[in-house]
Amino acid sequence: MKKTLSSVIALSVLASCASVEQPGLKDVFQDHFMMGAALNEAEINGTDTLGIELIKKNFNTIVAENCMKSEVIHPEKDRYDFSLADKFVDFGNENGMFVVGHCLIWHSQCAPWFFLNEDGSQIDAEELKARMKEHITTVMTRYKGRVHGWDVVNEAVVEDGSYRQSKFYEILGEEFIPLAFQYAHEADPDAELYINDYGMNVPGRRDTYVRIVSDLKSRGLRIDAVGMQGHMGMDYPDFAQFEESLNAFAGTGVKVMITEWDMSALPTVNRGADVADTEAYNAMMNPYPDGLPEDVSAKWNERMKTFMDLFVKHSDVITRVTAWGVSDDDSWKNDWPMRGRVEYPLLFDRELQPKAFLREYMKKEHIK
Ligand code: G3I
Repeated sequence: MKKTLSSVIALSVLASCASVEQPGLKDVFQDHFMMGAALNEAEINGTDTLGIELIKKNFNTIVAENCMKSEVIHPEKDRYDFSLADKFVDFGNENGMFVVGHCLIWHSQCAPWFFLNEDGSQIDAEELKARMKEHITTVMTRYKGRVHGWDVVNEAVVEDGSYRQSKFYEILGEEFIPLAFQYAHEADPDAELYINDYGMNVPGRRDTYVRIVSDLKSRGLRIDAVGMQGHMGMDYPDFAQFEESLNAFAGTGVKVMITEWDMSALPTVNRGADVADTEAYNAMMNPYPDGLPEDVSAKWNERMKTFMDLFVKHSDVITRVTAWGVSDDDSWKNDWPMRGRVEYPLLFDRELQPKAFLREYMKKEHIK
């Protein structure tokens, strides 16, 4: 559901009115944590002018949704493409924002060449170390002092607490993580370094990350925070488990960041669902293509408020709350898992208005 010209005009009027009355989220929560958003290509390229105004008004930290992923920024062994990443970093620096790079080492969106020799055979451990070091050093050196924090390793552990069977793990074992953090710190000693994953409420994953962070610290390696991505739905994560994980990560002595917050308002995708009738399946998985019913929206806002209240409660250890996108139309959850699916997971709606739970906070102007 992309913006048409008439909707852009209407949105401009709405946005300009709203901008006068409403305080920005970064001001409302300034005594607790930074408020951030992931930026997409249209926002980075400047074509989404309304989105950019919303970003400047509400966020003091930004993260690259896609433009710094290795398949984008390093598509071939001897070729980098910094075009979009440069614009992203420039935007953040020009607006005095805390800029976050996402992500240096990730099994997904990693160009196939990363693990292959010229003849197509798999590289060995020494070659992978060299390639990891070269990638991390080249990217971080370019943005030294201008990107303030990095998701160094992303999604390395699965729910039972075992390491994800990525090529990084297959070739280097558990060592790939400390190596990545060592290379990152060598490249930019002043940058904050994070390890980041989803489903961080799950005890198995939580326990392994506590071990990993403790091991990094025992080796004298820099790690500043654990990133709890915060991709949520109406029936996950378990609230108590999430808070237990928050406390467990903070207990290792690092900070915690909510790095990719969104909450699906639709039924949780059960791709194993035995729904022979595609039409019935699509109706089940895309129930509100023209807007959320009031009762569903109310439940969504209530659940989002419980988590925002939790973040405020733990703002002694939470330094950043970043939404994975600016307004609902931007979310990766639209058109997933099937095209046409309309989602409502972010902090601002398709009219670029703050969701109801945020308007309550905004009334206080400034959360003590
Ligand atoms: O830019 C190309 C475009 O040129 C092409 O025409 C189009 C169609 O193939 O694809 C475009 O790239 C897509 C990219 O998003 C930009 O829109 C990729 O196919 C698509 O896979 C990619 O999806 C991203 C996904 O990560 C995979 O990288 C989502 O936008 C992004 O929100 C999502 O973010 C991840 C975090 O990085 C890690 N944590 C989970 C989170 C959600 O999956």
